[in-house]
Amino acid sequence: MFVAEAAVSSIFDLVLEKLVAAPLLEYARSQNVEATLQEWRILLHIEAVLTDAEQKQIRERAVKLWLDDLKSLAYDMEDVLDEFNTEANLQILIHGPQASTSKVHKLIPTCFAACHPTSVKFNAKIGEKIEKITRELDAVAKRKHDFHLREGVGGLPFEMEERLQTTSLVDESSIYGRDAEKEAIIQFLLSEEASRDNGDNGVSVVPIVGMGKTTLAQIIYLDKRVESHFDTRIWVCVSDRFDVTGITKAILESVTHSSTDSKNLDSLQNSLKNGLNGKKFFLVLDDVWNEKPQNWDALKAPFRAGAQGSMIIVTTRNEDVASIMRTTASSHHLDVLSYEECRLLFAKHAFAHMNTNIRQKLEPIGEKIVRKCRGLPLAAKSLGSLLHTKQDENAWNEVLNNGIWDFQIERSDILPALYLSYHYLPTNLKRCFAYCSIFPKDYKFEKKELSAVMDGRRLIRWLQKRGNYRRLW
Ligand SMILES: Nc1ncnc2c1ncn2[C@@H]1O[C@H](COP(=O)(O)OP(=O)(O)OP(=O)(O)O)[C@@H](O)[C@H]1O
Ligand SMILES: [Mg+2]
Repeated sequence: MFVAEAAVSSIFDLVLEKLVAAPLLEYARSQNVEATLQEWRILLHIEAVLTDAEQKQIRERAVKLWLDDLKSLAYDMEDVLDEFNTEANLQILIHGPQASTSKVHKLIPTCFAACHPTSVKFNAKIGEKIEKITRELDAVAKRKHDFHLREGVGGLPFEMEERLQTTSLVDESSIYGRDAEKEAIIQFLLSEEASRDNGDNGVSVVPIVGMGKTTLAQIIYLDKRVESHFDTRIWVCVSDRFDVTGITKAILESVTHSSTDSKNLDSLQNSLKNGLNGKKFFLVLDDVWNEKPQNWDALKAPFRAGAQGSMIIVTTRNEDVASIMRTTASSHHLDVLSYEECRLLFAKHAFAHMNTNIRQKLEPIGEKIVRKCRGLPLAAKSLGSLLHTKQDENAWNEVLNNGIWDFQIERSDILPALYLSYHYLPTNLKRCFAYCSIFPKDYKFEKKELSAVMDGRRLIRWLQKRGNYRRLW
């Protein structure tokens, strides 16, 4: 749903960009449709109210339907513009590579439009499409006035903080609650029982399921008792793809503190076996989705070399994954945070370095927002960070009273609080966010990859240069 909604603005940008492209206009002129295409620039007036419309669609179904129509129309427009481009390029091919662009464009009105049989067919087909779209666009543009949409509404001017990558390190002073869960797991990790009651591989695996899993695993990993109990500690972010070779390599590199280029699983496993030999290790496999027992069996083969009492913590959203990997009596289920813990977490992000008078005014609104977060740490943190840059009661009240809180997001498990923090992103960042969703979960992408994705043509060129289309998908 996020991607689809953000696409309204991104598809608009693409269409507008294509509409003003000089070669296309020149070609359109030659086909006597330039004036009609100019009419399509009415999109600029629609774009001006798009942000307001995106906000209103939450409460007003008619606005949502209007946006849906607009989106499908924008797709049709883009298709037609692409067909135009393709036809223009085809003409360059027909008239030979030696013909200069200007020569080709001179030829088009006299020869292509009139003489070439395929062009006659093309013109008739595209002409009909253009007429149909222009009629529909006119109707959709008129409906805009029914909704009293405001131009130039840019959402609340929130500034986004740069998001840091997750590692095993965490600032423990910023963690609220979880003391009981942390103690229960640590007591188990250090217990005699754990050393005896371990799995078929000699290693106990403790799954954590719920919310704030990575955070809990981080504070356990950093605990001094855990540090001194084990000979070596290893943190691996696994994510969607359970790549046995890649994970083995990551564990090996962590154990040996050196990198390896090997991609041979047998050689990596043997090196890991040697590296773990006789050591009591503590391994965290963060964010595991693998449901295939054979993958897990393949990965754990070298772990037997570790000393008795070695431990693995697996964090996963998936109960099935937990039961495949678990070797101890039960998984650890994390519940929501208490209201007080959630309030402290929200306050840490929302009120940091805030003037006391302003804080006093905002606190009662913040408390009501925290109740709506229902103990979800990610929600409290995201909304706290979002509101931090806006020290204004109106903005806070707008978030508090936003219809999204009551919004049933169809066929989606996106929580209202997270939807809200997305909703208040400026349009350009919403688009950027939508493009980020193309990358697989936890995939480390570079800035230039993202900007290539945001410009489809550059993406193709970039992937061609790297000789690998499959890298991103
Ligand atoms: N007890 C807590 N105190 C403070 N912040 C927390 C707490 N629990 C989680 N958070 C914050 O909430 C966010 C989400 O937490 P975390 O990444 O641990 O969740 P997760 O269950 O691992 O999510 P996922 O299923 O996406 O991997 C993080 O930014 C984290 O810092
Ligand atoms: Mg996690």
